[in-house]
Amino acid sequence: METTKTKRKPRRVAAPPKMIEIPGTGVSMPFNHEGNGNPRVPLLKPYVFDKEQVEEIAVGLLLDANIALTGPTGCGKTSIVAALAAVTNNPLVRFNMNGETRVSHIVGMNKPTTEAGSLALKFVLGPFAEAMEKGWWVMLDEIDAALQSVVMVLQSVLEEDRILFIPETGRAIRAHPNFRLFATGNTIGYRAVARMRHAGTNPMNDAFLDRFGLVIAVDYPNRLDEIKRVRANCPGVDDAIIDGICRVAEDLRADDKFRSDFSTRRCIQWAALFNHLPGEDFIARVLRAAEMAVIRKMTSPTDVAVSREVARRIFGWEGDDDE
Ligand SMILES: Nc1ncnc2c1ncn2[C@@H]1O[C@H](COP(=O)(O)OP(=O)(O)OP(=O)(O)O)[C@@H](O)[C@H]1O
Ligand SMILES: [Mg+2]
Repeated sequence: METTKTKRKPRRVAAPPKMIEIPGTGVSMPFNHEGNGNPRVPLLKPYVFDKEQVEEIAVGLLLDANIALTGPTGCGKTSIVAALAAVTNNPLVRFNMNGETRVSHIVGMNKPTTEAGSLALKFVLGPFAEAMEKGWWVMLDEIDAALQSVVMVLQSVLEEDRILFIPETGRAIRAHPNFRLFATGNTIGYRAVARMRHAGTNPMNDAFLDRFGLVIAVDYPNRLDEIKRVRANCPGVDDAIIDGICRVAEDLRADDKFRSDFSTRRCIQWAALFNHLPGEDFIARVLRAAEMAVIRKMTSPTDVAVSREVARRIFGWEGDDDE
């Protein structure tokens, strides 16, 4: 008797994700095709990747760990996540936890709709819940200023099974495999000493922090790396000016009398302003740009005096000391 062999369908094996190299680092990460056409994928801006930071974040992403980035203001915590999302084609949703983000932004809320001519309330998922469901990256910026009510809701999402319960609908959202969670803060963990400089931040609950699988310590770069970053953001600014600005930043950060943070953001703002101010005398122009971009933001008279003195010395000002 002839037996008919039933042909087995070949089992579908998911194709390995296409990898993309993070420029200048030799580190590769999965490229997310599902991000194609999604306007939440950040635009790729000029960015200088730090190999060590990228290596650490790549491990965190592979393990699906919650990743905390800590460091002083304007050192590159937010921008590295945005730049990585841009290169790897991952949609990214940012939340400013500075009191603006409430439980309804995380979970969702009832919104009025008109159905068949009558007004009704419909529950709409919050952007965080939507990101979990659709597999987007989420960045909780300034996590150390988050409202306690929000921290409590997030706690279960930070767990390994990543579930968000929606009380209004009784639904539980389990995160899509592409969902990843980042948090940035100036005072997380061991930088708590810095808290006195960052009014308005709340001491982080240890149980909450424990749910971050890794902490990336970001700091201001050394002068040569800072020059590259400023140059990437301010094309067309003379190298000698960028070099001088980064020398001022380096000197002030090392100066005990100077108490504020001198961020890379300030270096970039200073260089960008310099290029747009009128005037032939480039020293006068660079010092005027310093006043506008940097010095007028300082509240301490000592910081003002020290930064003027350092900037004048580095740029070779020979004029009057009176302001
Ligand atoms: N590696 C880099 N390459 C190019 N630009 C950079 C780099 N790192 C930081 N920058 C630029 O420096 C500025 C500050 O960076 P960013 O906003 O990421 O800092 P932050 O640590 O998140 O600051 P804050 O604590 O105030 O939120 C931005 O304009 C950013 O584009
Ligand atoms: Mg930031």
